[in-house]
Amino acid sequence: MIPLAHSRRQFLQFTGAAAVVAAGHRLVPAWFNAQAAAPAAKALSLLGNLDFGAVAISHADALTVPAGFKAEVLLRRGDVLNPQGERYGDHNDYLTWLPRDERTAWLWCNHENVQLELFEGGWDGRWTEARAAEFLRMQGGSAIRLERDGAGRWRPVLPHADNFRADGLTTKIALGGPAAGTSWVKGAREAIGTTSNCGGGLTPWGTVCTAEENYQETWGDPEMGVAPSPAAGFFPRPSEHYGYIVELDLATRAAVKHTALGRFAHENVAFNTARDGRLVAYMGDDRNGECLYKFVSDEKYEPAAGAANRRLLERGTLFAADTEKGRWLPLDPAQTPALARAGFDRARVCVHTRAAAKLAGATPLARPEDVEVHPLTGEVYVALTSWQPGKNEAKRPAYFKEAAGAIGALREAGGDAGAREFEFRIFVPGGAETGLAWPDNLAFTPEQHLLVTTDFSVKPRPEAGGTQAAFGNNFLVVVPTAGPAAGQVKRFAVAPRGAEFCSPTLSPDGGELWVNVQHPGGDSTATELTSRWPNGGTSMPRSALVAIRRET
Ligand code: FEO
Ligand code: CA
Ligand code: CA
Repeated sequence: MIPLAHSRRQFLQFTGAAAVVAAGHRLVPAWFNAQAAAPAAKALSLLGNLDFGAVAISHADALTVPAGFKAEVLLRRGDVLNPQGERYGDHNDYLTWLPRDERTAWLWCNHENVQLELFEGGWDGRWTEARAAEFLRMQGGSAIRLERDGAGRWRPVLPHADNFRADGLTTKIALGGPAAGTSWVKGAREAIGTTSNCGGGLTPWGTVCTAEENYQETWGDPEMGVAPSPAAGFFPRPSEHYGYIVELDLATRAAVKHTALGRFAHENVAFNTARDGRLVAYMGDDRNGECLYKFVSDEKYEPAAGAANRRLLERGTLFAADTEKGRWLPLDPAQTPALARAGFDRARVCVHTRAAAKLAGATPLARPEDVEVHPLTGEVYVALTSWQPGKNEAKRPAYFKEAAGAIGALREAGGDAGAREFEFRIFVPGGAETGLAWPDNLAFTPEQHLLVTTDFSVKPRPEAGGTQAAFGNNFLVVVPTAGPAAGQVKRFAVAPRGAEFCSPTLSPDGGELWVNVQHPGGDSTATELTSRWPNGGTSMPRSALVAIRRET
């Protein structure tokens, strides 16, 4: 956790704490992934001193890195993970690693979506039960054993009996929190499958959270007026069983959908503790005109309780942000009369969360995607991807002028994550002047640099005057948050055609940057395949996990 009074010295002591990994310690702060756990605490991470030549924009079907760096593909869609033949899913998005014991660690990757039309063998567009099953099976996530190779680099081990999948087809997941067993989830206490797994987060007690984002694309949503996909026709399930933060304990494979954290297009989750010790979870809802949330547990986080802290995510108060007045609005019918008058009880708030936020007066935002807690200041950085004109235009926040998005920063009153009030500012606006466009994923390095990936839509041929014409393929930038270069954007890598980068994460020793390349060739049409990455030749494109390091 990140008590705001933490000194830089304490921070470095922690980040240098190889013993934390070596002992298989279960106390793993959410931002631990951003830290170099190398024995030499003073060693800078791969991007620590920014000594790379910024790469130019590119429209090429290639992963471009600065001179002196190289990229290696570690995992590809379809790789066989274990002896029973389970495979690495499609559209890898969130990635994280967790210490396990002295020799091994866990790697977790989300699988957000599936493009069957890009699978080998082609597709005539007809849905069958087998196709629907494949569509669900290739979503979810992969848990993979990591070991050091002969060069000392942490690498996935496959196939291996430890490796397993959670998927959208068969994985049984408990429903927890106020909505479980109520009519709002059709009386269920268990759901089948997890889908649309976008970003995520690590709990302080060492479990993985995976965020169910655009669940409506598979299961539909009556509230949003979205019909289920053809795949759901073969496997009909209630929409209300999806759209949650799902917590997985990789050691026991226990999984819970935490209804107390609300139901919407969950992008990711980032944890902190309030000054009084209660757990705080920050979350974005990636849809134009939707809101920023935080959950505050009823009880205090107890490090010694380990995975039993899971109960904290079942009882607490969900708040939505009024960024214009700087207030957190409780989505609690007992505190917000408008909710009670509209017939909301606490269980319904957990399922119809967007409606509750609007009734409470929360601010519609420009697609709030990743939220991350600054490791030293405790400020909450928010990717505001883009405000799309049209619906809700009249509600466009006055501060938000850029169509190319922005990164916002929220400072809690008194530096207390449990505060009811905050200040909100724009840290970096998008646009040609700054070099930022449509920010999606955020991550911090130990040196307080923010890693930012972009996600704007691309086409086989850029439209004149559009984002793609100006910026090329999607890319990854480094933005210092302190020092003389604070707020300056430096481009480190460019993705292959059609792809976006997801979840930039330093390797356990800090010497590599791991990043998922999602949907290369995703802009292909029926007559034009835009990417052959990563296998080249006449192969079909595949989403893949890549490690970037120095050449020497
Ligand atoms: Fe799955 Fe909002 O990106
Ligand atoms: Ca995302
Ligand atoms: Ca994305």
